[in-house]
Amino acid sequence: MRIPLVAGNWKMNTSVDEAEKLVLEMLDGLDRLDGVEKVLCPPFVSLVPLSMMLQGSSIKLGAQNMYFEAKGAYTGEISPLMLSGLCEFVILGHSERRWCFGETDEMISKKVKAALANGLKPILCVGERLEENEAGKTEEVINRQVTVALDGVGLNVPGGDIEKAERMSDNLVIAYEPVWAIGTGKAATGEQAAATIEFIRKALAGLWNRDTAEEIRIVYGGSVTGANIAEFASHREIDGALVGGASLKADEFVAIVEQTARIKGRDRTSRR
Ligand code: 13P
Repeated sequence: MRIPLVAGNWKMNTSVDEAEKLVLEMLDGLDRLDGVEKVLCPPFVSLVPLSMMLQGSSIKLGAQNMYFEAKGAYTGEISPLMLSGLCEFVILGHSERRWCFGETDEMISKKVKAALANGLKPILCVGERLEENEAGKTEEVINRQVTVALDGVGLNVPGGDIEKAERMSDNLVIAYEPVWAIGTGKAATGEQAAATIEFIRKALAGLWNRDTAEEIRIVYGGSVTGANIAEFASHREIDGALVGGASLKADEFVAIVEQTARIKGRDRTSRR
């Protein structure tokens, strides 16, 4: 049984003071909700203060990016070693990294491996652009993004560490974020998202096996709000959401997590 996950990607928003204030506004509301893994991904500079504020709570932290080398002359970059111990998750391959900063599938693959090798859980983002969608290339694009990013991330890795590899399904989250739905207010429909997520799961089964693919969480992202989360959470295939803009509003983010918990909790009970 996959545990639903809702993550807030704050992107390049909030000063340290604003981030602390936002956490205070949502802390109690989020903390009392069970059955959903709750993750906040603030800007790097807020990870340290927030990690202290969230100690003893059920809310986890994620970074929004990282470099794949451990250390060295890479001005401006943040390494997996700096993040490990500070946060549990790291968003990798977000479309804004791909399209604003030129990240390739090959770079993202190195990042995924470096994250896993350092005990960080990647939230690997994949998604097609509008023109690719309109040209009927969604599956081709997604298949390439998934298979290149996860190439060599097998049951025998990371770092040849079988112990870690056996927990692969807990350690990796995939976010399907169609680029045309991000920040546009034009979310995919639940059916569209579920169909592509089913396709991603088949691609994972091809890389590993059906059982592992069934255990890996795949969430939807792109204009998720309190008003449309139910449409996504009610699909068995969709394990939660990666939320951008709406995660900057405490009430709305709590409402998204609350509805996900309620809908997924009801599903679990009805299937017993
Ligand atoms: P929005 O929810 O603002 O569309 O952003 C989605 C996203 O990119 C999350 O990573």
